Amino acid sequence: MCGIVGYVGADHAKEKIIDGLKRLEYRGYDSAGIALPIDGKIQIRKHVGEIRNLEKIIGEPEFDSAVGIGHTRWATHGAPSDLNSHPHGNSDNSIAIVHNGIIENYQEIKEWLARDYGVTFKSETDSEVIAHLIGIFYDGDLLEAVNKAVAEMRGAYAVCAIAAAEPDKIVAVRKDAPLVAGVGKGFNFIASDIPALLKYVRQVYLIENNETVVLTKDDIVIYNEEGRKVRRDVFNVTWDADAAEKEGYEHFMLKEIHEQPKGIYETLTRRINDDGSIRLDGISMTKEDIENFNKVYIVACGTAYHAGLVGKLVIEKMAHVPVEIDVASEFRYRDPFVDENTLFIAISQSGETLDTLAALREAKRKGARVLSVVNVVGSSVARESDDVFYTWAGPEIAVASTKAYTTQLICMYLLGLYMGKTKGTIEDDYYDKVLSDLKALPDKVELLLKKEDEIAEIARKYHRREQVFFIGRGLDSGVSYEGSLKLKEISYINSFAIAAGELKHGTIALMEEETLVFALATQDFLYEKMVSNVEEIRARGARIISVAKEGRTEIEKVTDEVIYIPDCIDEVSPVLAVIPLQLFAYYVARERGCNIDKPKNLAKSVTVE
Ligand code: G6P
Repeated sequence: MCGIVGYVGADHAKEKIIDGLKRLEYRGYDSAGIALPIDGKIQIRKHVGEIRNLEKIIGEPEFDSAVGIGHTRWATHGAPSDLNSHPHGNSDNSIAIVHNGIIENYQEIKEWLARDYGVTFKSETDSEVIAHLIGIFYDGDLLEAVNKAVAEMRGAYAVCAIAAAEPDKIVAVRKDAPLVAGVGKGFNFIASDIPALLKYVRQVYLIENNETVVLTKDDIVIYNEEGRKVRRDVFNVTWDADAAEKEGYEHFMLKEIHEQPKGIYETLTRRINDDGSIRLDGISMTKEDIENFNKVYIVACGTAYHAGLVGKLVIEKMAHVPVEIDVASEFRYRDPFVDENTLFIAISQSGETLDTLAALREAKRKGARVLSVVNVVGSSVARESDDVFYTWAGPEIAVASTKAYTTQLICMYLLGLYMGKTKGTIEDDYYDKVLSDLKALPDKVELLLKKEDEIAEIARKYHRREQVFFIGRGLDSGVSYEGSLKLKEISYINSFAIAAGELKHGTIALMEEETLVFALATQDFLYEKMVSNVEEIRARGARIISVAKEGRTEIEKVTDEVIYIPDCIDEVSPVLAVIPLQLFAYYVARERGCNIDKPKNLAKSVTVE
């Protein structure tokens, strides 16, 4: 995710800002930039790629100041490029800003500024409007101008602004995006995240929503929404920089598991209009295109493929179109039936997986319409697709994918609903029910995460097993594959997933005393069949951990442990059912002392065949 660092002091702002930005590198970014007030003007330097690219263009001693703001960008609006990087200036660069978050009404503001003030825009970003807004309201008082600009903005933001005419200060403001001020002696910092500051300060003020902060070298003044000064206790940071990057979590994987309510919210909510219709920015498929598809092909690798397994059932049910699914490494070598009436969906967190990219090219060559579901903006898969549907999960650092998976699922639902509505294959009542259950997911996931201790306890009990099975039916079968993959990836336990109904055709031969089986039983219409499957293996002495919806207690009679997930319609339960499996895998691996964030032999992004 984007990172912000601002410094006000006596000298060498450049050095401190670069230090701070480097501390935020672990979060992933695609470009970096810095703005300094020098001799009555603001100078902005920015560069796509790594911070070292930026360092190459800011080397000369004259490019320095006692004050400055810097940014690492993770693209959301507009591909990674020099121009789209932050900081952004207004028309005469008398104001510069850096921004984290999304300005939802930026198009409206853009049109208004262009029409009434003749503003021309240099970038494709939503953020640039902030610099112009502040510029238009600026009348010698940066704080006042920032407040006026904020009143025009809707969305989420942490913004830091500097003005050429007030070169001794930074004004910052936040709403739904983190911001902290670091307290120094003769200098002060502002940043999006604590790790950026730890080399220089240990005391910080945590800025709250709708607060504005004015930083000078000797003072940090916080104002509330009504413009009144706020007294804030300092927060003493006791963690080291390494722990701070993980925001107190022991591993990135656990942090990312906990970021799922936010990722789901971001991916979902911004795409739903007030009237319940779905807005798919970046997707230009027409009604006619959608009606003309006689087949959908989903292709992906690893966890993304497992999201596709759920996507297949969801899209078939909602959009009444046959959906085939394949792993990319198979698809690309088997001359599949794909033509101009095929919608080809590539799912990829990184957007750089070589097999997925090759499969996409193959589908394109055969004339398919290519839509990708991708987390990394501007990645190769995104660039080569006709339409891109972004999962707004934020950067995923742990090799084992968690928040990318749940946000990929959200994209599958939105796509199913959108296609179904467009084709008229979905009843209004059913559409409304799915939508309302989807909207309830962030809170329900949050609730489920509160069962972390209970799940950790179960993991402690079973962590020495060397073999685990995962079974489920319908949508649960897809989730079983993901649960099994999570466990084997990070704990090196031999885990195996199979559709529960298929057990009796071979795998049941392996069931014996103490065999551990995870049984997913969240599909109401398959619940009884699932209970029978569990009974069959229980009769052979297997130990069962089941995952069921609250209130479906029948299964307790045949299992050793039950983890209940909040009630919901069957269709959306995969988003909830996977959470206990992620936590189980995490705590088992932790008990076994594994290198959770970087498991052996695995890579986050596989760019080779
Ligand atoms: C690697 C990663 C997996 C990931 C898969 C697909 O194997 O370790 O976590 O699911 O690649 O990656 P993608 O970036 O295309 O989703």
